[in-house]
Formats: sequence, structure tokens, C-alpha cells
Amino acid sequence: MNKKYHIHTFGCQMNVHDSEKIAGVFSETGYQEASGFNEADVIVLNTCSIREKAEQKFYSELGRLKKIKKNNPNLKIAVAGCIAQQKGGKLFERFPYIDFIFGPNNIDKLQIWVTGNTVNSALEDNPDYSIKLIPAKREGRIRAWVSIIYGCNNFCAYCVVPFTRGREMSRRVSDIYNEIQSLAEQGFKEITLLGQNVNSYGKNLKITVDFPDLLKEIHKIEGIERIRFVTSHPRDLSDKLIEAMRDLPKVCEHIHLPIQSGSDMILNLMNRGYTYKEYRIKINNLRNAVHDIAITTDIITGFPGETEEDFQHTVAALSEIEYDGIFAFKYSKRPDTKALDLPNHVEDKVKSERLKKILDLQETITYKKNIRLKSELVEILVEGYSETDANKLTGRTRTNKIVNLYGEKEDIGKLIKIKILEAKLHSLFGEKVLT
Ligand code: SAH
Ligand code: SF4
Ligand code: F3S
Repeated sequence: MNKKYHIHTFGCQMNVHDSEKIAGVFSETGYQEASGFNEADVIVLNTCSIREKAEQKFYSELGRLKKIKKNNPNLKIAVAGCIAQQKGGKLFERFPYIDFIFGPNNIDKLQIWVTGNTVNSALEDNPDYSIKLIPAKREGRIRAWVSIIYGCNNFCAYCVVPFTRGREMSRRVSDIYNEIQSLAEQGFKEITLLGQNVNSYGKNLKITVDFPDLLKEIHKIEGIERIRFVTSHPRDLSDKLIEAMRDLPKVCEHIHLPIQSGSDMILNLMNRGYTYKEYRIKINNLRNAVHDIAITTDIITGFPGETEEDFQHTVAALSEIEYDGIFAFKYSKRPDTKALDLPNHVEDKVKSERLKKILDLQETITYKKNIRLKSELVEILVEGYSETDANKLTGRTRTNKIVNLYGEKEDIGKLIKIKILEAKLHSLFGEKVLT
């Protein structure tokens, strides 16, 4: 047969990992990976709907595929991911050259289409999805993503995810454990547990288990040296999780804890379920319990109703908390979300100005924090050669900072001690310390 597939992924880590599962399904069906668009018999666009820009990127890519399909009428085009789920069959009306549409909770159904059965979409509820074992064809050999909970119940006022990924569904402890055990046997060293809100883990399961309990179980697996997780919702971050992070040595000293805004009025309009003060207490508790923990966050500028005063609260929060890094975005109107109906939408120009202020401020903070690391001894997991300089190796500290260094091929996949020699805004440079 010798047919080939190509996947183009947009969006978050969840989508990146979903693409590994999509590749896994193709692999199982006897397909091989194409070197690019032109060699492929099937192209999958795994889409993201989080902001308007992400959606635009998908439409322009789809336009490009239309031309490729003109030259190669046998080419099949599938659309997966969050836009697929949200727009559904309407996509066929606008883009009749699409062959198959499937949502994030129906990746198991891809096989039915690939093997030639006449279905053209898989967008329905799939209540058993969390107990399906979908093989993943993973990108690396050292670090792996592992899904623990699908969906989201939070309905933050700006966010499409609850509409695209459905309600929360936790995977069973034994399935997660077995998957990681097998990764350890294959030589993987680091795993990142994935969920829109990992702190909700376990709520819908028959047995009583929560996220810290799951961490404790996974911690027992020999061969896995580092455990990470994304994302934590600040409202649900418990003292029990903080204690688990403190007590479990494999759990890395890093947490991504999206604050979104420093203003209580805006947090309330966003339906986030915490005040700045409550958030601040959790940060203090984390810092007291976990020595040198790195904290990163997400910020939205120009949410409807955000006044200059509200914005100054966000500026003050960044100065006070001093994050290790942030992702900041201009508020973007999304279909179905509550925020659409809120009064006092902010002008685009103001959103942009505020975004720039936030990013500039964070640059000075990140740089200041990186400089402090100079001369420090740290452990890194070497991931491979640097993308920007093929003479150097690259790895990450336990606090998730990228470090480049000179070293040998044999170092790849190993945990090594290094000394930080140089600190830049986006990366560090170090040298191996002989032990
Ligand atoms: N589940 C994760 C976030 C997923 S989306 C969490 O709750 O933290 C990642 C980030 O995108 C969000 O934290 C938010 O900052 C941003 N985001 C989501 N919807 C957005 C929108 N409509 N406009 C701008 N940014 C948005
Ligand atoms: Fe979106 Fe909020 Fe759910 Fe995160 S917690 S995915 S921001 S609704
Ligand atoms: Fe991720 Fe984008 Fe969907 S951020 S959850 S792929 S909307």
C-alpha cells in the first residue's frame, strides 16, 4: 500500500500530543510519515481556536491546500482539533474540498475513515474516550507528553476550550501508570502530565483519587527521572499538591499558574474563581514549600471592562510576583463565550499598548532573574542538539529554563551537572562540571 500522511499542528501542547496520537493511528493502519505536504496522500490540519489569529492561520493554510489538491485530486484533507469541533459540518459548506472532520475527543474514530469506511465526520460525544488506549507516535525519545484529563468544566468567560474539548474526563490511574511504565522501559526520562486543569484530576472517577495521589503513584516508576505537569488552575491548587511537590523529588520545581489579570474586578468578570490576594497566598505557600520554584503565568490584556486602573493592578502583580516567564495575549473575541456580551470592550490600540507594556516589563524581570543564575550549579536533562547552533547541545533545568552547552553526543538523554556561565533573555549557556 505504502500510503503517506502529513500532519500540521496548531495550538497548545494538548494539540501537539493529539497529533502524536493521530500519527499513532496512521502508523497502526500501515501509513508512513510523508516528508511534507507534496508527498502526502492524506494531510491532517490539527487546528486551534483559542484566539482569532490561530483561526486565521488555519484558513490560510487551508487555502494553500486547496491549490495542492487541484494538482493532486487524490489527496485527502482531514481537519482535526478545536476548530473542527467548534465549526463542525459547517466547514464542509465553506470548504467542500475537506474530506473528513474529527474532534479532539474522537481521535480513535480516525481509523474508521482511514480504512475506507464511508464516514465524513466524527464530532459526537464519545463518553468512553478516556478509557480508550490510543497509541502515540512520539516526537522525541527523552521527554514525553501523557494525557491525564481531557476537557474543561471552568467556562472562563473568554475561553473556547470548554466548547471544543467538552466536559472533564479523567483517565484511569492504571492506564496512565501503564503508559508511563512503558515509556520508562523505552528509555524516556521525563514526562509531562497534560490537562487543561490537572487539579481537577479524579473528580469523575469511580475510585477516590486526586492529582497529588496520582503524582505519588507515578513517582514510583523506575527510570522516569523528572515529572512535570500543565496546567494548574489557581483556584484548585491545593495545599496537598504543594506538599506533594515538596516531598516528591522527581516532581520538578516549576509551576505554570495562569493569573490572567491582577484586578479582582476583572478576575470576577472572567469567572476565574479567585481574588488576587488568594492567588498571592498560594504563590507564597509554593515558594515557602518548594525551594527556588520557578513560576510562570498567562496574562490577557484588554479583557472587556478593563480600565487603566485594572491594568495597573496587573502591572503591579507582575512586579510583585516576579515570574520566571509569562505568555501574554491581547483579549480576542471568541464564538459562544460569555465575554462577548460584556459591556465596554477595549479598543484594539489600547489592548496592544497594554500588551507591549506587560511584555517589556517582564523582559526586565526575566533578564534580572536569569542573571542571578550566573555561576550556579544546576542539573539539566540533555535533549539533543540546539536548533539554533548545531555545535551545541541543549537541555532544560528542573525549573524549565533552556541551557545550551558544548558536549558530546553521549550526553543526550542524560542528566548532567553544569555551571551557568552566561545568562541571556531566552536562554542560558553553561559548561559541564566533572563529578
Ligand atoms: N487551561 C489553561 C489555559 C488554556 S488556554 C488554563 O486555564 O490556564 C491558554 C491561555 O490562552 C489562557 O491561559 C489565556 O491566557 C489565553 N486565552 C484563552 N482564551 C483567550 C482569548 N479569548 N483571548 C486571549 N487570550 C486567551
Ligand atoms: Fe479555558 Fe479557563 Fe478551562 Fe483554562 S480553565 S481551558 S482558560 S475555560
Ligand atoms: Fe489548545 Fe487551541 Fe484547543 S490552545 S485546547 S488547541 S483551542
